[in-house]
Amino acid sequence: MRAVDIIQKKRDGHELSAEEITFLIQGYSRGEIPDYQMSAWAMAVYFQGMTSQETGHLTMEMAKSGDQVDLSPIEGIKVDKHSTGGVGDKTTIVLAPLVAAAGVPVAKMSGRGLGHTGGTLDKLESISGFTIELSRDEFLNQVNEVGAAVIGQSGNMAPADKKLYALRDVTSTVNSIPLIASSVMSKKIAAGADAIVLDVKTGSGAFMKTLDDSIRLAEAMVDIGTHVGRDTVAVISDMDQPLGFGIGNALEIKEAVETLQGNGPEDLEEVSLILASHMLVLGGKAKTVEEARVVLEELLRSGAAFDKLKQMVAAQHGDVGQIEDLSKLPGASRTLEVKADTSGYVASIEAEAIGIAAMLLGAGRETKESVIDYGVGVTLVKKVSDEVKAGDTLAVMHINEASESKVQEAENKLKQAYSITDAAVPKQPLIYALVT
Ligand code: URA
Repeated sequence: MRAVDIIQKKRDGHELSAEEITFLIQGYSRGEIPDYQMSAWAMAVYFQGMTSQETGHLTMEMAKSGDQVDLSPIEGIKVDKHSTGGVGDKTTIVLAPLVAAAGVPVAKMSGRGLGHTGGTLDKLESISGFTIELSRDEFLNQVNEVGAAVIGQSGNMAPADKKLYALRDVTSTVNSIPLIASSVMSKKIAAGADAIVLDVKTGSGAFMKTLDDSIRLAEAMVDIGTHVGRDTVAVISDMDQPLGFGIGNALEIKEAVETLQGNGPEDLEEVSLILASHMLVLGGKAKTVEEARVVLEELLRSGAAFDKLKQMVAAQHGDVGQIEDLSKLPGASRTLEVKADTSGYVASIEAEAIGIAAMLLGAGRETKESVIDYGVGVTLVKKVSDEVKAGDTLAVMHINEASESKVQEAENKLKQAYSITDAAVPKQPLIYALVT
């Protein structure tokens, strides 16, 4: 077999066999197929697409390229959740304890922030002492004993995807639905869950900006899951504005805790309940999402879900006192309000710009080496469809060490992120579609 023939076959729109895909991925992983041939192949896929058979083979080949986690020592159906990423998305911190409290084991491997704001691990590390590094046995034991654990993903998970993704990043081939779908699913499959709930974000702050593209991506991922015997459902949720009000690590922990205590932001609670309902159904703990929701609402109301978070934090050596008394979480030394220049209604909030503003204040990494300040970030005061008068506060910046020029830049970003119109703006849907 020769890489050049495979590239040509794909360039001309033909379907590749399982053997050809294996040859490419294994050869590339071993360094036998050079970057320039793999780039040409990725570009051919970008234009010609892939069939679901091809996407399935690619996913499995990448999943097999490194460590594969065996979750079989954990009893029950293990359900994972994956979000395609958004600003203010702290649902994992709500879902892990909530779903575990309902009896579905959550063995979750998460990532750090790739984009502007911190990832789930960074958020959890804003709790003093919280460790995301557990040995395999500690991880499995914790899930069996507590019901939930959230740890960092092994450095050798789907290394073929890591290498290919880095190449796609610099060859303008990231935005291909079969390549994104196989990239995401290869990591989920390597992480070992029996079933997967996907939260595919759509809108200005999401990877997929249009509903059509988001649905196509969701369908491709559900199709892969079905092909490889992992029950998968996808919820398409709104990312035309950040989720909740807080953007920044400790600010997001605070909001997740408030949600688990039954008094969090409406949108975060709703998205969490919908995703958790699907996790309960896939985990065999409810027959329908309606039945699941009743159980979950009771777990929030009774405090059982919050208790589960406390158990998980204690098991991972975090300071439980900080989530019992949220004022003990890292904070900011000063705040600055960002005011509206005009009156009207909030038509949209550019989520990406809000994420960049939070990063400029120190909540995310500008470079790989940047050190995150857990206490800083942004709290939104106005959200889409809210009425605003000139001089009203749109958002609050939480500041520690950021220089005046960074604060100024963040303020400008926040102002630009808000678009205010004269006409009243209806509330937008939170959930657009379900793909099964
Ligand atoms: N996230 C991933 O993990 N892979 C992609 O290709 C795109 C986003």
